[in-house]
Amino acid sequence: MYNFTFHNPTKVHFGKDQIKQLAHEIPSDAKILVTYGGGSIKRNGVYDQIAAALIGHSFWEFGGIEPNPTYATLMKALPIIEEHEIDYILAVGGGSVVDGSKYIAAAACYKGEDPWDILAGSGQITQALPLGVVLTLPATGSESNAAAVVTRDQDKLSFVSPHVHPTFAVLDPLTTLTLSERQIGNGVVDAFVHIMEQYLTYPVNAMVQDAFAESLLKILISEGPKALANPQDYDVRANLMWCATVALNGLLGAGVPQDWSTHMIGHELTALHGIDHARTLAIVLPAVMKVRKEQKQEKLLQYAENVWGITDGDADRKIDDAISNTEAFFKQMQMPIRLADVDLGPDSVDAFVAQLEAHGMRKLSERRDMGLNVSRQVLEAALA
Ligand code: NZQ
Ligand code: ZN
Repeated sequence: MYNFTFHNPTKVHFGKDQIKQLAHEIPSDAKILVTYGGGSIKRNGVYDQIAAALIGHSFWEFGGIEPNPTYATLMKALPIIEEHEIDYILAVGGGSVVDGSKYIAAAACYKGEDPWDILAGSGQITQALPLGVVLTLPATGSESNAAAVVTRDQDKLSFVSPHVHPTFAVLDPLTTLTLSERQIGNGVVDAFVHIMEQYLTYPVNAMVQDAFAESLLKILISEGPKALANPQDYDVRANLMWCATVALNGLLGAGVPQDWSTHMIGHELTALHGIDHARTLAIVLPAVMKVRKEQKQEKLLQYAENVWGITDGDADRKIDDAISNTEAFFKQMQMPIRLADVDLGPDSVDAFVAQLEAHGMRKLSERRDMGLNVSRQVLEAALA
């Protein structure tokens, strides 16, 4: 196991009716900006719970943060923050609202000329407004990590800063009962791939991280389909919600190599064709497993045996069966698993590779040995 420092400062309030905790978490004299998306929180009663919890607090609203939040939308929050001297952000929604709010929190304190530089890599975040989260879509882990992804035109870029790590997150599984089947599937598969990107690399004898990862993968495999079949089952939603948070709160990735190539390639699919984040991952990960079979052989075998319980056949056969099982699971969660499933053909590949090049993604994977030629092979393996 590699050396690591693990520190996750987000306080989590988990369970039914925990939205009430807002009253205690946010200082009573704070000037709060409640940020949200396209209005799901107004339709499903979450907004009313927030307003009730914030009686006695001063708050303003900023809605309309879209899936894959854009720079243009997020920048519109800045004049509101200035006008009302906002000093606290409360993000209510899924990963897009949380990520967008992280950007707003940092941009509001940014001293440079254009806060886009934070994403372009030339701007440093030295300060951000404090951020609390009420999560309504378990998927990204953004509610208790320091990362955010923002889009401008065809650039979907990310930044990481301890200054935007949420101070607290409320996770009430009841808020997730109104998710569509599409968003349930997206959430389960996004969390699954987060675990895989921190697990499917090479062994470093990190027994704790591996055991956590394997258990969480098995939970997603068993509970994900149940959420589609029995959408009102609270316990299923509770386990999925906590699973998605732990999948990307720093615990699994501490002290182990990580491979974010599926995410980096997936982001380009979203940037160019607007495909939902998790759906891009369901298309790319199986292709990464196939193309990188040799480099990932030991962990692929461990995955086959410990996660899927595959005991028959030689190593090659076990690995092939594990990849097939992974694809079947994604399909069960109603995901596309090939570019053809989202109506993209061989003529789409060049543009993806060009985007990766433009974004400096020339050395992906746990060993940084995945050049543009290998990314091209992955995309070609994902075609049909
Ligand atoms: O906008 P509203 O009206 O709220 O509707 C949303 C949106 O249309 C809806 N929704 C959310 N909660 C709901 C609900 N509908 C009914 N009931 C509820 N309880 O779901 C739709 C999708 O929401 P979105 O926030 O876009 O989904 P998700 O949580 O999957 O977030 C995706 C974004 O997170 C980024 C992705 O790139 C993408 O931009 N990621 C962030 C990461 C991070 N910060 O660590 C890591 C991830 O890998 C990912 O890249
Ligand atoms: Zn993801």
